[in-house]
Amino acid sequence: MDGRIILKAIFFLVLITCSMTNAVLDAHYYDHTCPQAERIIFEAVHNASINDAKVPARLLRMFFHDCFIRGCDASILLDSTKGNQAEKYGPPNISVRSFYVIEDAKTKLEKACPHTVSCADVVAIAARDVVTMSGGPYWDVLKGRKDGRISRANETIGLPAPTFNSTQLIKSFAQRGLGVKDLVALSGGHTLGFSHCSSFESRLFNFSTSHEIDPSMSRDFGETLKKKCPKHNKDRNAGQFLDSTSSTFDNDYFKRVTVGKGVFASDQALYGDFRTKWFVESFARDQSLFFREFVASMIKLGNVGVIENGEVRLKCNVAN
Ligand code: HEM
Ligand SMILES: *[C@@H]1O[C@H](CO)[C@@H](O)[C@H](O)[C@H]1NC(C)=O
Ligand SMILES: *[C@@H]1O[C@H](CO)[C@@H](O)[C@H](O)[C@H]1NC(C)=O
Ligand SMILES: *[C@@H]1O[C@H](CO)[C@@H](O)[C@H](O)[C@H]1NC(C)=O
Ligand SMILES: *[C@@H]1O[C@H](CO)[C@@H](O)[C@H](O)[C@H]1NC(C)=O
Ligand SMILES: *[C@@H]1O[C@H](CO)[C@@H](O)[C@H](O)[C@H]1NC(C)=O
Repeated sequence: MDGRIILKAIFFLVLITCSMTNAVLDAHYYDHTCPQAERIIFEAVHNASINDAKVPARLLRMFFHDCFIRGCDASILLDSTKGNQAEKYGPPNISVRSFYVIEDAKTKLEKACPHTVSCADVVAIAARDVVTMSGGPYWDVLKGRKDGRISRANETIGLPAPTFNSTQLIKSFAQRGLGVKDLVALSGGHTLGFSHCSSFESRLFNFSTSHEIDPSMSRDFGETLKKKCPKHNKDRNAGQFLDSTSSTFDNDYFKRVTVGKGVFASDQALYGDFRTKWFVESFARDQSLFFREFVASMIKLGNVGVIENGEVRLKCNVAN
């Protein structure tokens, strides 16, 4: 075959693949069916965030967990049923809370435009809203996701663990079609929120035969964390904010990682591997670059495993 024909064929294949992966989602999906959808969601999220400063971080993390397990299909919102323990009861669910905010928005949406806006879209829009509200960027959320009917606690083992090294993290993201840049940019979500001791205490005591504290962590920071999480810690609420401005969406997280103050081994690992270190340094230096790349990666994350043959749930915690 002549080279030009092959090139043309490749060109069309690429075109087809691109349009296939974007076919479902659309920024204007509810323009005619529920033009007030985003305003209703914003109001519910905003109101809840004013009453409880923990809400923004929780809703951002909810979106990540939802998309990583079975795709962005609101499986994280479903309750357990007889004989099936739901995803939200899987071990890593610690701190994934504030489900009531999504329910509140959904109840108002059902009144305004019945059976129209999927719970998966509510989660995606809420995640954007909390980022913007916290001082981060704004972007148009693509919509048109459908809600799934399956939710299994045992599938949460598919989430990356805070003990993961860079190779494991890169693999976990690649399995969802996300690249190394997406991994680093999205880890910047740790500019918001809090962690319990249990998620990082293995770095503080008897880390390895030669090191009591994880040597990738700054010594000062290690001592600070040990004070917050003493060995026979009884306070189950004890822990550490993920960056020093934990309710502001900024690039402080990356600055901290460059000085050994990433809270999780998985945060710090991004600085210890040449494949990811360059991105960490770039984002630490240039906040607007981080914002642009975070937006691009959130849009990609929002496309993971989107289903077409699902339903629009009437209540987010039960399948229709
Ligand atoms: C790269 C792999 C990731 C790992 C291993 C990881 C792990 C964790 C862990 C262990 C916690 C603390 C849970 C607790 O002890 O309460 C946490 C919190 C959090 N994560 Fe991640 N995460 C990752 C990626 C992400 C991504 C991609 C986002 C969003 C874009 C995100 C957003 C958050 C937020 C906002 C919190 C704070 C939650 C709160 O304050 O309630 N994480 N993460
Ligand atoms: C705002 O939040 C409070 C507390 O969560 C709730 O009682 C109230 O109904 C909410 N108001 C609106 C307008 O959503
Ligand atoms: C998380 O899972 C534990 C059991 O693994 C359960 O006791 C807890 O209620 C769950 N939390 C939420 C918010 O679903
Ligand atoms: C989870 O459990 C279901 C049955 O309840 C099983 O079919 C599935 O393979 C399990 N998945 C994983 C990841 O263990
Ligand atoms: C990362 O962890 C995996 C699995 O535990 C291990 O096989 C691999 O050698 C580790 N890679 C690095 C770079 O530490
Ligand atoms: C520390 O870990 C080593 C194995 O790595 C173990 O033999 C030792 O008993 C541990 N020490 C304490 C105090 O837990």
